[in-house]
Formats: sequence, structure tokens, C-alpha cells
Amino acid sequence: MLLKCQSCENEWDYQGESKYYATCPNCHYKVKISEEGDQPKKEEYNISVLGGTGDLGEGIVKRAAAAGYKVIVGSRKYEKAQRLAEEYREGLESSGINGFTVDGDVNQKAAEKSEIVIVTIPYKYASSTVESMDLDEKIVVSTIVPMKKEGDYFKYTPPEEGSAAEELQSNCNGKVVSAFQNVPAKLIADLENEFNCDVIVCGDDEEAKEKVKEFVNDLSGLRSLDGGPLSHSSMVESETVKLLNLSLENPMKHVYVVYKGE
Ligand SMILES: NC(=O)c1ccc[n+]([C@@H]2O[C@H](COP(=O)([O-])OP(=O)(O)OC[C@H]3O[C@@H](n4cnc5c(N)ncnc54)[C@H](OP(=O)(O)O)[C@@H]3O)[C@@H](O)[C@H]2O)c1
Repeated sequence: MLLKCQSCENEWDYQGESKYYATCPNCHYKVKISEEGDQPKKEEYNISVLGGTGDLGEGIVKRAAAAGYKVIVGSRKYEKAQRLAEEYREGLESSGINGFTVDGDVNQKAAEKSEIVIVTIPYKYASSTVESMDLDEKIVVSTIVPMKKEGDYFKYTPPEEGSAAEELQSNCNGKVVSAFQNVPAKLIADLENEFNCDVIVCGDDEEAKEKVKEFVNDLSGLRSLDGGPLSHSSMVESETVKLLNLSLENPMKHVYVVYKGE
């Protein structure tokens, strides 16, 4: 089968057996094989996105649903979760995507019903949201970047644990894996935009980290890279602050990262 890499445009004769993705032999990008509407169905997984009513949550919910995952939008308010779930369903349909599942519930119930719990809540409120939940055996994904505006620029403000992800781990009994910190909300929410962004995934539980990497790779426009242990999350979180400051100094609004190597 002749494939063309969506990143470096290399064309090659793919001889592998995967129905969904192939790795480009030139740049190692994950190249989508399946056509729209033919994505793998991940019905064994429920994904909840706590604070999924917000900017980053929207894109993760929509891309996960488009990839075949059952997604639950979490919110502090049941009505808000239901309303945003409805809006996301309409958005998916208007992009020509059908056969998905997006529901809404309060954060606690959304987390209870899912295997992977993605926390897209501002740093200040993230730990207090999960600390009363029983997340034993669940994978908890930290997308959180602690930062503040100082003068004209953004500054990374890590907690004493070293990173927001490690702080989250010290406040919940789930297996915390960090990801998505470097993904601009505006771009991931636009399903037409295959922006091909790298997502660095850090975690101490190898099995949990592999599941999150697989999840990321299933989302269109994203490729996962293994970032090592959870203690490396500080490097990824601070990278977001660097990207935001770059967007202040350069004619680029939503700066993201694609890593290349040989
Ligand atoms: N925005 C980005 O481009 C981006 C990129 C990478 C990483 N991140 C990280 O992703 C996380 C979410 O960012 P965002 O921009 O999506 O945030 P956001 O839109 O400002 O807020 C997300 C959601 O957090 C919930 N929330 C707000 N205040 C809360 C509180 N006091 N207690 C509990 N929940 C509360 C709200 O949901 P309900 O009102 O429905 O409860 C809100 O919709 C942050 O940690 C950020 O660092 C963001």
C-alpha cells in the first residue's frame, strides 16, 4: 500500500499489518492509514475529562470521541456538563463525524465511570478536585501548567513537589501520568486542523504511561513521545511557558512543538 507521510511528505510502500497507523521510515511520524469514519473503536475505554467544559478539555473530548472512545465531560455542575456535551456532539456532527459517544456528568461521577481520568482544570483547583475521589487503579492524566504573569511575560511557578503532576500524584491514589501540557487549546479544538503536534508523556507506572501514549496516538493530529518518569514533568510544564512567551515575541499565535531526530 502506498502511503504518504503527513509530516515530511515522504512516500513509501507500506508492507506492515496495522490497519490504522504506520511509522514513516523517514521521520518516524505516526501516519494515519484509515480513512475518516474508519477509526479504531476503543469501546472498552471510558475517558472522562474533568473540567472538560473548558478550553483544553473541548479539544481532548472531541478528538477522543472522534477516535472512537466513549467520553464523559466532567464539570462541577451537572447541567453545564450536559450542555457542553451537547455542544460537542453538535460540533462533531457538523465536522461530519458520526457514531461517537459523548456524555456529561459531575466530575466525581465522570471519574468513577472511566478508566482514564484526564484533569483539565486550572492548577489552583486541580488537586482539591481530585483529592476526595477514589481513583485507585485509574489512570489520572495531568495536563496542568502552574504559571503566572510577571510583568510582560509568563513565569513557571512549580510547587514544592517539583511539578504540578507530582503534586497531583501526592493528592490522589490514581496512577498519574502527565501529557498535553504543550498542546494549544485553540488548535486541538479545531478538528479540521491536523496540526501534527508532539505530546510528551511522563509517568512512573510504565503500563499506565503506555496506555496514555496509545491514547494520544489515537487522536488525530497528535503524536506521543516518551518523556520518562513523572519527575520529568517539570521540564514539559515549563516548556509551555516558553511557548507562550515565544508567542508574545514572534508573529505566531499558538506555538507548539514537533521534535525531529535521526
Ligand atoms: N488552555 C490551554 O491552551 C492549555 C494548554 C495546555 C495545558 N493547559 C492546562 O489545562 C488546564 C485547563 O486549562 P484551560 O485553559 O482549559 O482552563 P479553563 O478553560 O480556564 O478551565 C477549565 C475548567 O476548569 C473548571 N474549573 C474552573 N474553576 C474551578 C474550580 N474552582 N474548581 C474546580 N474546577 C474549576 C471549569 O469547569 P466547570 O465550571 O465546568 O466545573 C472550567 O471549564 C490547566 O491546568 C492548564 O494549565 C491548558
